[in-house]
Amino acid sequence: MLAVDSYAWDRFGMGEFEAARERLGSKVEHRRADVHELDPAEVGQFDLVLMLGVFYHLRNPLAALERVARVTRRLLVCETHVLLPFVHERYPLVPFFPGDEHAREAPYEMCAMPTVAALTQMLQSVGFREVRTVYTPSFRHWKKLVALVTNRPQSGRGIVHARV
Ligand SMILES: C[S@@+](CC[C@H](N)C(=O)[O-])C[C@H]1O[C@@H](n2cnc3c(N)ncnc32)[C@H](O)[C@@H]1O
Repeated sequence: MLAVDSYAWDRFGMGEFEAARERLGSKVEHRRADVHELDPAEVGQFDLVLMLGVFYHLRNPLAALERVARVTRRLLVCETHVLLPFVHERYPLVPFFPGDEHAREAPYEMCAMPTVAALTQMLQSVGFREVRTVYTPSFRHWKKLVALVTNRPQSGRGIVHARV
């Protein structure tokens, strides 16, 4: 079992990770690695890969997903913010935001927030054979209504399972 991170560990240190590992009695190994640089020759391959709350921070999401696919032997569980426009939710849209490189000025900014359709198609395009949506945002219809009234797409959390 391996945990990887880069951004938070580089900027804020590993104190919280280490405290949680100690508190939970976890034996998870860890390695400082950027998702964009994951290499099976260095970290190996895993039957199960969890990418939870990471996708929307990625500067180059498709390139990063290619890396994730290379270290996934069976199943990727991808949980992320997804875009909820009033219409075109079934269209593969990914708006661009400044992202984590600008985190000092805007700490809560995101980079890429896909519609579930975009996430699905991106995962398929990097080689996952079967992509299944297992969770869509709560209050979805309400948020779509807000998107209509404000003329601004809303967002929520989504989860997909992608099989190699
Ligand atoms: C919202 S937190 C989610 C943390 C945890 N996975 C969870 O579900 O609670 C996003 C995490 O992704 C990490 N992250 C962002 N961009 C990354 C990248 N390019 N490579 C590796 N980790 C990254 C951040 O450092 C941060 O720890």
